[in-house]
Amino acid sequence: MEKAPQVTVAPHEGRLGILTPGMGAVSTTLMAGVLAVRKGLAKPIGSLTQMGTIRLGKRTDSRVPTIKEFVGLPELDDIVFGGWDIFEVNAYEAALNAGVLSKEDLERVREELEAIKPMKAVFSTAYVKKLDGSWVKSGGTKWDYAQQLMEDIEGFKADNNLDRVVVVWCASTEIFLQPGDVHETIETFEEGLKNDDPNIAPSMIYCYAALKLGVPFANGAPNLTADIPAMNALAKQTQTPICGKDFKTGQTLIKTILAPGFKARLLGVAGWFSTNILGNRDGEVLDDPEAFKTKEESKLGVLDQILQPELYPDLYGNIYHKVRINYYPPRGDNKEGWDNIDIFGWLNYPMQIKIDFLCRDSILAAPIVLDLALFMDLAKRAGFCGIQDWLSFYFKSPTVAPELAAENDIFIQQMKLKNTLRYIMGEVELTHTGADYYDYYR
Ligand SMILES: NC(=O)c1ccc[n+]([C@@H]2O[C@H](COP(=O)([O-])OP(=O)(O)OC[C@H]3O[C@@H](n4cnc5c(N)ncnc54)[C@H](O)[C@@H]3O)[C@@H](O)[C@H]2O)c1
Repeated sequence: MEKAPQVTVAPHEGRLGILTPGMGAVSTTLMAGVLAVRKGLAKPIGSLTQMGTIRLGKRTDSRVPTIKEFVGLPELDDIVFGGWDIFEVNAYEAALNAGVLSKEDLERVREELEAIKPMKAVFSTAYVKKLDGSWVKSGGTKWDYAQQLMEDIEGFKADNNLDRVVVVWCASTEIFLQPGDVHETIETFEEGLKNDDPNIAPSMIYCYAALKLGVPFANGAPNLTADIPAMNALAKQTQTPICGKDFKTGQTLIKTILAPGFKARLLGVAGWFSTNILGNRDGEVLDDPEAFKTKEESKLGVLDQILQPELYPDLYGNIYHKVRINYYPPRGDNKEGWDNIDIFGWLNYPMQIKIDFLCRDSILAAPIVLDLALFMDLAKRAGFCGIQDWLSFYFKSPTVAPELAAENDIFIQQMKLKNTLRYIMGEVELTHTGADYYDYYR
């Protein structure tokens, strides 16, 4: 087995800043969780960078280090959190409002959370219709706001004595936008910033500011944001990694676990009806049809890509796929998602599968943000830039190069991620053929 040449990876010395536009449920659950783990009060469950292992070489070699040791990632003690929000409340109050973690759990990290105060947001109700807040930058053009965000990032870095920073979008879902002329090149985009072009959403201004400074940007919402040629070009120009979109949690996580299994066994799918009730602020924002459309596009795409109806018309050619999200305040962050799946087998005999997932969205999303931040920092240190396809594992609607179809099958995504880590470290990528162990011809 031949090894790939090892990529040169800059060391992870010093402190890493994680900045989140949006200090709501997901962001504060991440912060409180990392602080609790640091104090030895909890384990980082759900985080590949903290708990995952990776097999190297042959099955008989018994080399299975933790991912953290293998690639060298910053310690949680070396992470500093910051962010922006449209409400001027510190991370402790924001976490209390979000209602994900108990007051008792938050009390244990209260002091540290209270010290994390949001910077003023770039925001407009034109893009998030159900929210309004006063802690926002005002009086300037979109270009001015981009400059101010860059000052925020630089200031945060200097004030906290940081070596590197990453930005992960954890703010509300914006209205559905289509890529247009203004998004085509860096020049048209910068012109658009100066002219306050309505097709430039706040999330794009954050993304632009981060990329200009060479700061990696990951998008946790389904917004268009980094998924436009101008950002791609800027990421290449400034040697910066980007990835997105929409954290893969809850119902879509389960969907991308199950659908590959049906396809692997050539079981047909006639219909898949998914409905959710949730009552957090995200649910309220998604109650607006324009924000829901952004989310719907992101959720609907996965089945087609995994099941490939064009290759398997008899099995998946007539699938009826429906996704519903209903805002239902009594549930708060504790979502309930129902799936009814109509499948069919030998001689077309029908069967049904029912799933009732009582899930906690932010509990599933928080470790994703941590992993993305650490892996985006690794990508930057490894000299990677542009779209980080290997991080598709974390997204509902992975951003990929325009000529490629996104990969949504979680098992292929996982293999891609682990093989990329092996590639970075100059280890042999695993093909799982088995030919190393058996002499198939005799
Ligand atoms: N929770 C999950 O499992 C999950 C999964 C996939 C995607 N997401 C996405 O992640 C994002 C965050 O989810 P959440 O549950 O934390 O939502 P949330 O409503 O609790 O938090 C979002 C925060 O962003 C703030 N905000 C809105 N626009 C802003 C702007 N322009 N600049 C700065 N702050 C802004 C809001 O005031 C709010 O505090 C949402 O877009 C959601 O769709 C969440």
